[in-house]
Amino acid sequence: MGAPLAVRVRDAAATLVDRVPAGEPRALAEPPPGSGLRPVLGEPGLPVLGQTLGFLQNALGSARRLHERFGTVFWTHAFGTRLVLVVGPEGIETVLANREKAFSSERGWGYFIGAFFERGVMLMDLEEHRHHRRIMQQAFKRERLVSYTDAMNPAIARGIAGWEPGLAFPLFPAAKQLTLDIATEVFVGEELGAGADRLNDAFIDVVVGGQAIVRADVPGGKWHRGLASRRLLEAYFRQQIPAKRAGTATDLFSVLCHAESEDGERFSDEDVVNHMIFTLMAAHDTSTITFAMLVYYLAVHPDWQERLRSESRALGTPVIGYDDLDALPAMDLAFRETLRMNAPVGMIARETVADTAIDGHFVPAGTKLMVGIHPTQRMEPWWDDPDRFDPERFSPERRDERRHPYAWAPFGGNVHKCIGMHFGSMEVKAILHQLLLGHRWSVPAGYEPVMDYGTGPFPVDGLPVRLERLAG
Ligand code: HEM
Repeated sequence: MGAPLAVRVRDAAATLVDRVPAGEPRALAEPPPGSGLRPVLGEPGLPVLGQTLGFLQNALGSARRLHERFGTVFWTHAFGTRLVLVVGPEGIETVLANREKAFSSERGWGYFIGAFFERGVMLMDLEEHRHHRRIMQQAFKRERLVSYTDAMNPAIARGIAGWEPGLAFPLFPAAKQLTLDIATEVFVGEELGAGADRLNDAFIDVVVGGQAIVRADVPGGKWHRGLASRRLLEAYFRQQIPAKRAGTATDLFSVLCHAESEDGERFSDEDVVNHMIFTLMAAHDTSTITFAMLVYYLAVHPDWQERLRSESRALGTPVIGYDDLDALPAMDLAFRETLRMNAPVGMIARETVADTAIDGHFVPAGTKLMVGIHPTQRMEPWWDDPDRFDPERFSPERRDERRHPYAWAPFGGNVHKCIGMHFGSMEVKAILHQLLLGHRWSVPAGYEPVMDYGTGPFPVDGLPVRLERLAG
């Protein structure tokens, strides 16, 4: 399975674009006199397209090149707008910690995914965000996570049982289907069947719509289909709410219907619908990409695969419970290293709502920002030999991530830090545990997946692996 035609055309265009000589750096805005701040330097790139192709083809290479020319904070044009990119843990901390309340998540993310995920908790700021997050937190408490883990294990076993061993098993689509089936059962409480298929299709359309390049409601286009599917999902969830509110089920949907903060605040029907649609999206690609890339790295590093398999066997249980996670330290090292190498949310969006400073640079109000999690995690001086898969970086003896609290930030940080971090970790590890016990896998020497960029880097060639079932 090679790269799809659209990806090959895009890559050819990006290669031509790379040959266009770089323009003269220009200042985004002059810093106020006496502020001691430097201007943000950058260049727009090509007319209309800006750096879009470069970012889609090779986000890491583009960010590294621009960082080399302009430093840790620079501007360019991409995705139809002017953007400031921030790399390096100091700048990331300034934006995510948001001590002066100068950065809006609602405005930043709203530009990219607002049409599809409006009123999701990530697209809220300040007091409103705090209010919604406190209620939502109830659905991610420890006892809930224990029950979600128990609910997902049978779905994982069923899914993996259907994986046909072979020389080129398409791992990525299989992982996508599996996490979607898990979400349908554990989040929505829907038995797999015809209804679930319709739901899954609508959900995929909404996610794909949010990543469309042509960002307009043109009939037949991805954006148009995404909006229509969003309406379908809204109607589906809204219609189920009375039954969920009346029942005692433990799926995430039911839990959100009943969730109550310590102060007795609850979600309206509208809130539940919006949070369900957003949470399904936030959970899906992220977990799929993490799992698939972890499997890939373990294929390239069979010593690590064997180490993890021995660890899983030593646990002596075919499925793991939430409490078993601490007993899998090697799996945790490989999991963290995969998130460092291949952060599924590669960039975090914000917009400045006041004039401010980032890493010594003046950034005026109304500037769209991309916080470069993926580039920072793959660049010196923040990480040694950053392109090498080396899970021991996270071992108790080294703890390289402690060099700076934001050097490793695949789940973001501060108030918007991923609410599903423990859920996502548990899901990926629960699937991997079962796969390790029943299967071994490898890839041909020198194979590297063809990557595209959605919310972060992901494989587009299906990630074929040689999958074999273990005896016994
Ligand atoms: C390995 C998997 C995952 C990664 C790498 C990841 C990454 C992230 C990141 C970077 C953010 C912060 C965005 C920002 O600051 O603007 C975030 C937020 C969020 N994530 Fe995750 N995520 C993962 C899995 C999940 C799962 C499984 C769920 C749900 C079950 C989830 C639900 C959310 C929600 C609701 C938010 C918004 C939180 C807020 O704004 O308060 N994520 N995620």
